[in-house]
Amino acid sequence: MSGKPFYVTTPIYYVNDKPHLGHAYTTVATDAKARFHRLRGEPARMLTGTDEHGQKLEQAAAEAGRDPFAFATENSEKFKALWKKLNIAYDDYIRTTEERHKTGVQEIWRRAEATGDIYKGEYEGKYCVSCENFLTDLQLDEGKCPDCGRPADPVREESYFFRLSKYQEPLLELYERNPRFIQPDSRRNEIVSFVSGGLRDLSVSRTSFKWGVPVPGDPAHVIYVWFDALSNYATAAGFGQGGFPADTAWPADQHFIGKDILRFHSVYWPAFLMSAGLPLPGQVYSHGWWTVEGQKMSKSLGNAVDPHWLIEEYGVDAIRYFILREIPFGADGDFSHHQLIDRVNSDLANDLGNLLYRTLNMVRRYRGGKISRGEGDGGEEARLAGIVREAAARYEAQMEATDLQAGLRTVWEIVSAGNKYIDAAAPWTLAKSGPEDRLDSALYHAGAALRVIAALISPVMPEAADSIARQLGLAGDWLSAPFAELVDLYKMPGGLDTDLGKPLFPRIEEDARAALEERVAARIAAGEGAAPAAPDSEGGGLISIDDFRRVELRSARVEAAEIIPKSKNLLKIEVSLGEERRTVVAGVARHYAPDELVGRTVVVVANLEPVKLMGVESQGMLLAAEDEDGLKLVGVEGGIRPGSRIR
Ligand code: MSP
Repeated sequence: MSGKPFYVTTPIYYVNDKPHLGHAYTTVATDAKARFHRLRGEPARMLTGTDEHGQKLEQAAAEAGRDPFAFATENSEKFKALWKKLNIAYDDYIRTTEERHKTGVQEIWRRAEATGDIYKGEYEGKYCVSCENFLTDLQLDEGKCPDCGRPADPVREESYFFRLSKYQEPLLELYERNPRFIQPDSRRNEIVSFVSGGLRDLSVSRTSFKWGVPVPGDPAHVIYVWFDALSNYATAAGFGQGGFPADTAWPADQHFIGKDILRFHSVYWPAFLMSAGLPLPGQVYSHGWWTVEGQKMSKSLGNAVDPHWLIEEYGVDAIRYFILREIPFGADGDFSHHQLIDRVNSDLANDLGNLLYRTLNMVRRYRGGKISRGEGDGGEEARLAGIVREAAARYEAQMEATDLQAGLRTVWEIVSAGNKYIDAAAPWTLAKSGPEDRLDSALYHAGAALRVIAALISPVMPEAADSIARQLGLAGDWLSAPFAELVDLYKMPGGLDTDLGKPLFPRIEEDARAALEERVAARIAAGEGAAPAAPDSEGGGLISIDDFRRVELRSARVEAAEIIPKSKNLLKIEVSLGEERRTVVAGVARHYAPDELVGRTVVVVANLEPVKLMGVESQGMLLAAEDEDGLKLVGVEGGIRPGSRIR
């Protein structure tokens, strides 16, 4: 028996939507944490899954004309497919539609009911279907949900309530007793003041739709989707009618979540568990939100950070590295391709890639590809060993505290020490004038630093870590050595047959960079085209005339057009809509010369959110049709005043 594993969870994702960057972020962070524990030789258990019940899913399935379970299954598979591509080593994947889960949820309900914490009443108030959240009039922001900004529905129905009010004091005591229960501290303070303000009992069942787990003994009610969803962390650890099995992983050590769902995890969830008499999780870690190129993530911007596409463009490890390195875990941040390319070039290609390449290249040139054990010390070696030792200890503490960004920064201190070490040891001089054992020692130390680096980046960049190990000639099971050995320079065996291979992270040069930024712009533009009518429904569900009317189409006259520098297909087009002039960026340069366009009447989508494409703000979109022979802009027959509405 290896004892209770470090049990760490992601939120379970709603399946009305396909996975996006935000989901990838939470999941990669959780995976990195689990892998860090495994690296230290501790058993770890990572759980993820999908949240498949509730009104939102029922509605989304109905709109797509699908059966809710089939619809959920299809989307749940999309999450699984992305996790595979992102190298997520989860141990369990729970779907709330599974039997093992439903039985467990009902058991938590029964226990809370037996405690006297569940009573029947009537709920009258507002409900945000998108957040699956009950809202009071006070919480509403001009009738809209304060979290997502969508209109909230009025609801009046019979409902069971959970005596949340009873848990105000016990929750405050919990936050007091375990000050790290909620992380980061700023979030903890928010929750403490929220709970201190008093808690109202919570509606925990719905009667106006069917798609959920039935309330035990009263099947006219389905259990509120958040009661259902939160329970997944326990049901996946085996909680059912008989309680937890003896070898359960519960309690979870850490729940990773985004800040938008902190209240559910740090207030409702521990209260439900207390009521059911079950042990509480150790910590809820709430991370920040990503904007994309400086703006809130929308459908079209989401298209430019589609995780599948990002992985194809940059490689899985570059993405995993970037999202964890770019912003402190817990803070909000901006995803910009520009920044991403800079990071790939500086940290991955220049610093790490270069250390690996120059080391192995010298091993090949001076020693026929073999690293021998060399311990000769000219003082530089002891210095390097000291830096590695200190940095590895600091890294361990930072990763333990889930300061993933700091952990990575610390590894890069070793990378930079490795590069400096090579400069100081100057193997190229030793190769000319000896002594021979100093040359062996220099190559050994550079290689040994790389082995430590590979181990320490493995939670975040598992593929790159393996590839470095393979190039160094380490055995296949290199990573299973005890942590203390992995971070000890001198535990690297000698006599290694290295393999220079191709550069691990090639630099993204100027040309490739311009082409990439152009692809980003094209994806944003394509996302915009797809957005208004048929959001995700591949089957192309019907829309109402009102949906169509929301799209403001206007005629416009092209006043000027020019190629955007460095772009191959984008034109910056000035159009007049009568009184108003707009700048529109359109991907039509392959089909039209700028001069050909001036004076034409085109059709513009006039109420799109503006977006920056290759540095130019685009304030609308031109309509065009495309077939194998090319692309043709849509116009208006005969003369029409610029700015006329098109219906
Ligand atoms: N189903 C609930 C969770 C139930 S857990 C018992 C849910 N699902 S979700 O699919 O909407 O979101 C899951 C996670 O994605 C949340 O942690 C959320 O913070 C994260 N993100 C969604 N958009 C995000 C960004 N733009 N940036 C970072 N994370 C974001 O909520």
